[in-house]
Amino acid sequence: MTRTHVVTGAGAGIGLQLARRLSDRGDTLVLPVRSAERAAEVLAELGERHHAVVADLGDLEQVAAGAARIASQFDHLDSLVHCAGVVDLAPVATQGVEAWQHQIDVNLTAPVVLTRDLLPALRAARGTVLFVNSTSGIVANPHWGAYAASKHGLRGLADALRAEEAPHGVRVTSVHPSRTATPMQERVHAQEERSYRAEEWMSADTVAATLLHVLDLPSDATITDLTIRTSPSPS
Ligand SMILES: NC(=O)c1ccc[n+]([C@@H]2O[C@H](COP(=O)([O-])OP(=O)(O)OC[C@H]3O[C@@H](n4cnc5c(N)ncnc54)[C@H](OP(=O)(O)O)[C@@H]3O)[C@@H](O)[C@H]2O)c1
Repeated sequence: MTRTHVVTGAGAGIGLQLARRLSDRGDTLVLPVRSAERAAEVLAELGERHHAVVADLGDLEQVAAGAARIASQFDHLDSLVHCAGVVDLAPVATQGVEAWQHQIDVNLTAPVVLTRDLLPALRAARGTVLFVNSTSGIVANPHWGAYAASKHGLRGLADALRAEEAPHGVRVTSVHPSRTATPMQERVHAQEERSYRAEEWMSADTVAATLLHVLDLPSDATITDLTIRTSPSPS
C-alpha cells in the first residue's frame, strides 16, 4: 500500500535524500517549501506526482496556512518528518535577536504548528512524527547557543508529544545526527572559517537511510531517540 509522508526541508541535504528514497519506492510526498520557485524546482527533482505546499517556515502565518491546506487535502498521513533547519553561529554576547528568533521559528515553532494541525491525519493513520534533531539538542557548544536552544526545545516537544499521543497510536522519534555532509554543513564550515571536505563527515544518504528505518519500523516497536555519528574512518 502506498504511504503518504509530509517532509519539510526536502529541497536539500538530508531531507532531499529521504524524499528521493521514499519517492523511488512509490510513496506519496507532501512537501512544504519556502517559495513557488522552490516548489517548481523540488517537484522537477522528485516528480510532478508529489504535492508541494508553499510555506516559508520562518513565517508562522504561512506555516499555519500551509498546515491548513495539507489538513484539508489529506485525512491520512503516515508520517510527518521535520527535516528543515537553519543555523547561524554566534556567541551569546553578540547574537542578534533577529537571527536568534529565526532559528527558533524555523527549527522549533514551525514544527509545533505543523504537528498540531496535522495530528488528526496522523492519528487516523497511526502515523509517525519524526524530528530531525541534532547532537546540539543534547549538548550545547560555544557559538551554537541559538541553534542548540532550538534543538533542546525540539527534544522537549518530542518527549511531551510522545506521551500525549501514545493513546492515539502516534509514534514520536527524535533523531540526533552529528555533522553530516550537506549544504548546511558547508555553510557552517564557512562560518567557522575552516575548509570543508565532505568526505570527513557521514553522508546525507546514510542519515536518510536511518530515518527510513525509523519510518519503516514494525508497529510493535518504537524508536524514541536515536543518535547517529560519523564513524572514526568515514571515507
Ligand atoms: N548537516 C548537519 O551537519 C546536521 C547535523 C545535525 C542535524 N542536522 C539537522 O538536519 C536537518 C537537515 O539539515 P541539512 O544539513 O540537510 O540542511 P540543508 O542542507 O541546509 O537543507 C535544509 C532544508 O531546509 C529548508 N529550509 C530552511 N529554511 C527554510 C524555511 N524558512 N522555509 C522552508 N524551508 C526551509 C531548505 O530549503 P531550501 O532548499 O529552499 O534552502 C532545505 O531544503 C536540519 O534540521 C538540521 O538542523 C544537520
